[in-house]
Amino acid sequence: MKVNKAELLISAVSRKQYPEDGLPEIALAGRSNVGKSSFINTMVQRKKLARISSKPGKTRTLNFYNINDELIFVDVPGYGYAKVSKKERAAWGPMMEEYISVREELRGVVQIIDVRHPPTADDIQMYQYLKYHQLPVIVIATKADKVSKNKRPKHVKQAKNDLQLDKEDKMILFSAETGQGKDEGWSAIQNLM
Ligand code: GTP
Ligand code: MG
Repeated sequence: MKVNKAELLISAVSRKQYPEDGLPEIALAGRSNVGKSSFINTMVQRKKLARISSKPGKTRTLNFYNINDELIFVDVPGYGYAKVSKKERAAWGPMMEEYISVREELRGVVQIIDVRHPPTADDIQMYQYLKYHQLPVIVIATKADKVSKNKRPKHVKQAKNDLQLDKEDKMILFSAETGQGKDEGWSAIQNLM
């Protein structure tokens, strides 16, 4: 997909603030610092649209990005990061849960995992949670540039197995550094719209 327009619509903390234009939405999910914002930036070819962390836990609101007036990417705070305040952490669950359970525009979720390591318990729990809500999931195995080429297939196989990936769901090798997986990512996203 050729992206001509990519802009932040709103950083929301509750449903009253969600955009009302009815565009289909794709939400990002993944551990803190795994590369969710980098994924968005690579897909839309903007280096700084979504803020990238120097420190984990940078994204703390639901950030709605309008892409070409065709779809909205929703960047969400990462899970599994201990060093944010208790109060902030307590707010994340309900914020995510409210969005996932009420949002009719939500067509599917891009769940990002780090291909260097097996999925964590948090990753597995998140995938199960999304499946419980009957959402299509595209699993993006990112940071592929950090794993040697011949080892990548083994890591992907292991991750599919650990997550017990549904037959209908895809896992795509990706790198925000090299752009690997970008076209495949777009076609999977467009299939959900
Ligand atoms: P939070 O908003 O804190 O949850 O993080 P995030 O999931 O949005 O991660 P972010 O995109 O901010 O990236 C975290 C770090 O990983 C940054 O230093 C990125 O440059 C790096 N990173 C992201 N994707 C890749 C990748 O594909 N390859 C490599 N080598 N580094 C990456
Ligand atoms: Mg982020």
